[in-house]
Amino acid sequence: MKKCLICNSEIEKFIDFGQQPIANGFLLEEQFEKEYFFQMEVGFCPKCKMVQLLEQPDREQMFHENYAFFSSTSNYMKKHFKEFADSIIELQSLQKNSFVVEVGCNDGIMIQNFMQQGIGHLGVEPSKNVAQVAKDKGINVTTEFFDATLAENTIPKYGKADAIISANVMCHIPYMHSIFEGIEKLLKDDGVFVFEDPYAGDIIQKASFDQIYDEHTFLFSVLSVSYLANMHNLEVIDVQHQITHGGSMRYTLAHRGKKKISSNVAKQIQIEKDLGLDSLQAYQEFTNKVLIVKNDLMKLLNQLKKDGKKVVAYGATSKSTTVTNYFGITPEHISFICDTTPTKHNKFSPGAHIPVVPYENFRESDPDYVLLFAWNHAKEIMEKEEEYMRSNGVKWIMYVPNVATINY
Ligand code: SAH
Ligand code: TMP
Ligand code: ZN
Repeated sequence: MKKCLICNSEIEKFIDFGQQPIANGFLLEEQFEKEYFFQMEVGFCPKCKMVQLLEQPDREQMFHENYAFFSSTSNYMKKHFKEFADSIIELQSLQKNSFVVEVGCNDGIMIQNFMQQGIGHLGVEPSKNVAQVAKDKGINVTTEFFDATLAENTIPKYGKADAIISANVMCHIPYMHSIFEGIEKLLKDDGVFVFEDPYAGDIIQKASFDQIYDEHTFLFSVLSVSYLANMHNLEVIDVQHQITHGGSMRYTLAHRGKKKISSNVAKQIQIEKDLGLDSLQAYQEFTNKVLIVKNDLMKLLNQLKKDGKKVVAYGATSKSTTVTNYFGITPEHISFICDTTPTKHNKFSPGAHIPVVPYENFRESDPDYVLLFAWNHAKEIMEKEEEYMRSNGVKWIMYVPNVATINY
């Protein structure tokens, strides 16, 4: 039996995705033989309500100088993070002499907004290639992993923080107690820690199982984040649902007793209890839904293969690694995955080894069907492709929350 990373209770396993590779580990043919795999199982802790991976690759295997995810590939996300930054500037009345820390700033997509206004800042980003893009924008970045030690070492140099912010990073980190210890120390008395991550409520409701991959150690809920915060003398003072990444939650935390708690917190906890996020059954029902999607999608892809249809995929997302490897999707089903990220080009997808090609190949290849792996960017992508798809009779294939084809 595995023990919970948060409260050390026994975890109840509810889904096994089998052998999975590094989700962002796009690779060359000569690297196939040495590709790393691990058993990806997910469990629920009945005590602290945290949903978590039972095993995870070492962090250096996922976050390094060749990290393949560059945040600024989405224009929508640029806008989203500008609004996030503005809301923090307003909430904490930030001035030039204030100090903001972003954990996992990637290419600077969010923290650039503080830099541009001359606000004191520090980005913490261990993946050197993406951090370099941020540095080139003039952002102050340290290329280390955030933890309790880094937080302690930051204080003598910069002082304590008015705000610590983070997006799509906290859920990646198994050593959560070290992170929260660091936050508790680094945050000023009246400081806030604001972070957002894909939300367990959306994942369970929409059966968006592909949010589960090596990097995502945790699927947070208000219930589980409140439990964790409480262990470190912090408390959740506000929560706001976001539409990004198929449904995320933004949590605002402060030192216990220092700020007013919004009624949103109790409301969201009630919603979670109504959804059953506090007991195993909801997660078992999720597993059943995922098995239906698996069956339906493979039936469709096998039929299209038999009919000689050309099927390609759009967006070499980390999420797609779970889909292809768990479902058994091969280059026989999908000729290629197109993506706008140069570092992914002319490589193969992790595990399934489907070729990844530049976006320009997409229309040229004249497909019949397009499997939308980047479904979390559906609005942005569908608007961009609508005219082409319509005039050529090309159809989208979706698989969240269930399998469907879309004709314009
Ligand atoms: N905030 C960005 C990037 C998310 S990707 C966005 O929302 O688009 C996750 C990032 O977290 C990666 O760039 C990875 O290098 C970084 N990361 C992983 N562990 C970290 C840690 N302990 N401290 C700081 N950053 C970390
Ligand atoms: P994400 O789902 O982790 O945000 O990754 C999205 C991937 O999709 C990333 O590799 C970039 C790619 N992408 C495109 O190829 N075209 C697009 O229009 C968008 C928005 C993303
Ligand atoms: Zn627990």
